[in-house]
Amino acid sequence: MKKLLTAAAIAATTLFATANASADAAHPKIGFSIDDLRIERWTRDRDYFTAAAEKLGAKVYVQSADASEQRQMAQIENLISRGVDVLVIVPYNATVLTNAINEAKKAKIKVLSYDRLILNADVDAYISFDNTTVGEMQAKAITQVKPKGNYYLLGGAPTDNNAKMLREGQMKVLQPLVDKGDIKIVGKQWVKEWSAAEAMSIVENALTANGNKIDAVVASNDGTAGGAIQALAAQKLSGKVPVSGQDADLAAVRRVLAGTQAMTVYKPLKRIASEAAKLAVELVRNEKPAYNAKLDNGFKKVDSLLLEPIMLTKSNVDVLVKDGFYTQAQLAGK
Ligand code: GAL
Repeated sequence: MKKLLTAAAIAATTLFATANASADAAHPKIGFSIDDLRIERWTRDRDYFTAAAEKLGAKVYVQSADASEQRQMAQIENLISRGVDVLVIVPYNATVLTNAINEAKKAKIKVLSYDRLILNADVDAYISFDNTTVGEMQAKAITQVKPKGNYYLLGGAPTDNNAKMLREGQMKVLQPLVDKGDIKIVGKQWVKEWSAAEAMSIVENALTANGNKIDAVVASNDGTAGGAIQALAAQKLSGKVPVSGQDADLAAVRRVLAGTQAMTVYKPLKRIASEAAKLAVELVRNEKPAYNAKLDNGFKKVDSLLLEPIMLTKSNVDVLVKDGFYTQAQLAGK
């Protein structure tokens, strides 16, 4: 029996070896290039991903570009020369990685676009949450609290394809209400690098320009929501003007409980990270991953796996405790 198993294992390895000469299919080397580990969610993605990949026998090399496209390109080159079998990339700038990915493909390295779609490049697969649905959830929750009035749209980073998909989702909900005359969009702006400080100054200016007559802010994630809420608080408007978010960052969930942020979107990061680790290993082993969508990235229709996000308001934040994302003590600020 033991002999048989060994023979099967050798056969399997030979098969993988033919499929990708350089890859060690039993112990794939994964390069994980992350835009910005200074943002809370990505540290969790890194930890969950590394744990899941190691369980599958892989070794993970992590790099953070700290919101620099030059640094990200250099780090990807470095991972390629270290001989990784697959690159998992959270791009800072969706449109500048075409050449870096061409280099990877030449070296027979597989490429998985993680959470954000890389545009105009030959990526093998994409994994994310359904970002259009996230945008719809944000707008829906805000219109439930403020069905009429002046709306300000605080978009994500202009370099991030998700920012555009979120906006598409938000407008699906908002446009009919604009057409009806219930809602007026008094301003909109993209927030560079999803920066909370930048979001704060944008909303400060918007409040001044509109004589504080802003009734709702559709913010695209929790970091920028935090900046918006600080600007509102300075005008004694926090808690009165609903603000949306995304990520279930700890500070944001506490704001939802306190009533200064209307909602956030919980994306189970353990799920995306483990699915991504599995997918990355399957790509190296030339197995057939299970996809459920195809997204056009300007170069091709990319095989994609889109996961379901969960809308959170004060009434259901306990989902986070049940899911092990936070403890009750963390939510209570202890
Ligand atoms: C988006 C991501 C969000 C948020 C944001 C800022 O691409 O989908 O979850 O974290 O980037 O990093």
